[in-house]
Amino acid sequence: MASTDPRALRKHVPVPGDGLDAARMPGHWLLARLGKRVLRPGGVELTRWMLDALGVDPQDRVVELAAGLGATARLTLTRRPAAYTAVDRDPAAVATLSSLASPGPTKVRAVRSDAADTRLPDGDATVVYGEAMLTMQPDPAKRRVIREARRLLNDSTGRYAIHELCLLPDGLDPALVERITADLQDAIHVGARPLTPGGWSELLAAEGFTVTAQRTAPMALLEPRRLIDDEGLIPALRIAGRALRDPVALRRVLHMRRVFRRHNAHLGAISLLAVPTPSHA
Ligand SMILES: C[S@@+](CC[C@H](N)C(=O)[O-])C[C@H]1O[C@@H](n2cnc3c(N)ncnc32)[C@H](O)[C@@H]1O
Repeated sequence: MASTDPRALRKHVPVPGDGLDAARMPGHWLLARLGKRVLRPGGVELTRWMLDALGVDPQDRVVELAAGLGATARLTLTRRPAAYTAVDRDPAAVATLSSLASPGPTKVRAVRSDAADTRLPDGDATVVYGEAMLTMQPDPAKRRVIREARRLLNDSTGRYAIHELCLLPDGLDPALVERITADLQDAIHVGARPLTPGGWSELLAAEGFTVTAQRTAPMALLEPRRLIDDEGLIPALRIAGRALRDPVALRRVLHMRRVFRRHNAHLGAISLLAVPTPSHA
């Protein structure tokens, strides 16, 4: 029987969530343990849109906040930016990110720090982005991360993008927002607090950004079609096989998918592109 032990999945490199109880661990690390590498709500397609919108090119100095297992990092590195820095607070994620190889001349590094306090220099980045990480922060922490992105970015050439869960439509009944949020937190075991498209834009504006483009996509992270699109057919079958052999993990995955399906009409993925607002003090 194949093992779902992360040490068996990735030799020599620890996997985040190693040693945690499958019944209680954060949903994204449970999926990573099963072999899933794309952990953001809009999948690779919305990530590609985001990278195209950011227009990453060889002049850019890129900072990725909460880079996780480096799936987007690999796409970014094919665009050969001058520099790429991955930030994550999880030591096992940083160990994985430290082994990223650049296909070009990019200066690559991985640092372990909080996205709200990276200790990277002011105004040194031309591109900052983060995926599937703001949603899981309470509102004051969301603001601190966005403020940090603003601090890192060059005033004139900087671009910032996010890719997160969203609630649809704008103006959604607050009681329904509470119910969806509670169901998500119960399934994912993370304090997920998605915002509506207007809510994400307002938050960015309040921290000194002007939104210049946005795209939404269905929240289909655990649907078979998306799984194959994101991971490839054989890896998707392996993920399903590991889940089927682990009753606790299977129960968790099915619970997450049930909640995503139940709230399908009001849950989506969103990516927003923003630039520093010139007059913002
Ligand atoms: C759901 S995973 C997403 C990973 C990756 N961005 C992706 O889309 O595949 C969330 C990641 O965010 C990281 N993270 C969450 N909050 C963070 C924070 N405040 N500072 C740094 N990393 C954070 C976690 O350690 C984890 O790697």
